[in-house]
Amino acid sequence: MTSIPFDFAPLLPPGLPPPAAKWTGTAKYHFIGGNNDADQIPVDGLVAAATAVLTREGRTLANYGLASGPQGYRPLREFVAAKLKRDAAIACTIDDIMITSGSLQGLDIVNGVLLARGDTVLIEQETYQGSLTRLARLGVKALGIPLDDGGMRMDALAAALDDLKRKNIRPKYIYTIPTVQNPTGTIMSEARRRELLKLAQAHGVPIFEDDCYADLIWDGRRPPALYAMSEHGGVIHIGSFSKSIAPALRVGYIVAGWDMLSRMLPLKTDGGTGALEQMVLAEFCVERFTDHVPKLTRALRRKLEIMMESLAEHFGTAAEFDDPKGGVFLWVKLPDVVDTLRLNQAALAAGVAINPGPEWSTDKAYGKSRMRLCFASPTHDAIRQGVATLAEVCRREFGVPTRIANVEQRTGVQSR
Ligand SMILES: Cc1ncc(COP(=O)(O)O)c(C=O)c1O
Repeated sequence: MTSIPFDFAPLLPPGLPPPAAKWTGTAKYHFIGGNNDADQIPVDGLVAAATAVLTREGRTLANYGLASGPQGYRPLREFVAAKLKRDAAIACTIDDIMITSGSLQGLDIVNGVLLARGDTVLIEQETYQGSLTRLARLGVKALGIPLDDGGMRMDALAAALDDLKRKNIRPKYIYTIPTVQNPTGTIMSEARRRELLKLAQAHGVPIFEDDCYADLIWDGRRPPALYAMSEHGGVIHIGSFSKSIAPALRVGYIVAGWDMLSRMLPLKTDGGTGALEQMVLAEFCVERFTDHVPKLTRALRRKLEIMMESLAEHFGTAAEFDDPKGGVFLWVKLPDVVDTLRLNQAALAAGVAINPGPEWSTDKAYGKSRMRLCFASPTHDAIRQGVATLAEVCRREFGVPTRIANVEQRTGVQSR
């Protein structure tokens, strides 16, 4: 009897995302994703925290939700509430917090409660790819609002809100990354936050505040969160331990009033975020978070400086960028002739991975000659060598930069 392999294809429902490519390892020069600095993972502290908490409370693992209920491990929510009060001026209690499996699950849950196919949301024109792909998959229109060096532009937001009102469209939310914006690295001032809250209230539109980079600010100072500043509610706040401790732990949180949290909890269908991760984080963070973060940001700042120096050395004036206020990314503008989607393909063949701008923007033409580079995970040498290799590839493909390390290059542009 011949055995014919079972074919799942006819059973798949329409609308699934395209199949994933098989993972073939990371590029030699890995400037993509929001990864962290391996040397800054507080391994010893996490080991000690794991031993202490498991010895003391390991028996609670017998229950889904430990002894803390569906909103997440109580000591972790206590830590988050205290941290948000101290750093972001948010006066919430542990009842306003739900622990999630990364802030990505926070995005899914908030979207799940608020969005339906055909809805419209307002979003920063350059923004997190994971947010854009989610909205596209849900069939939601993402209207991009341009940014300047202070974040989302309020004149453009006001115009978009007025325009939608004329069309009788009430957007479901205004999504913003106000504190170290991804990918631009800007921080929205307190004054602009006030303007944003005023506009949102006037138009009856909630704000979705994604604050996962707020711990990674070079001078450690941040404006209050939009959630804290709002006098009438209407803000949902999400955060994460991915950037301040480690992304692979997959722990984030949502802060919202019970009116919305009570609608969100039924959408958290995973039986609870990993208990070990929550327990170890709480145990570690209570004692060590405030010492750990300045060490991490110092290391990240040094890597950023190396990346900016390398770009200046190898791309000269062909690479334009602002010095970001914190975070793990540099958002770079290359000459108009460069198509970063094509540059990425050629660079990958040379071992360099970059995030092409069009994937991080609602305006693909604006993103065409821009790219996002993550400087947190590569070593100092990998940053230097990777940027040098990228410049070589860019010159070969597009004829720029014409000068590298003050030496004029013969351009050998390949026409396509
Ligand atoms: C703006 C923003 N939101 C959410 C996430 C998701 O992070 P995580 O699920 O690791 O908390 C990221 C990751 O890079 C991000 O940049």
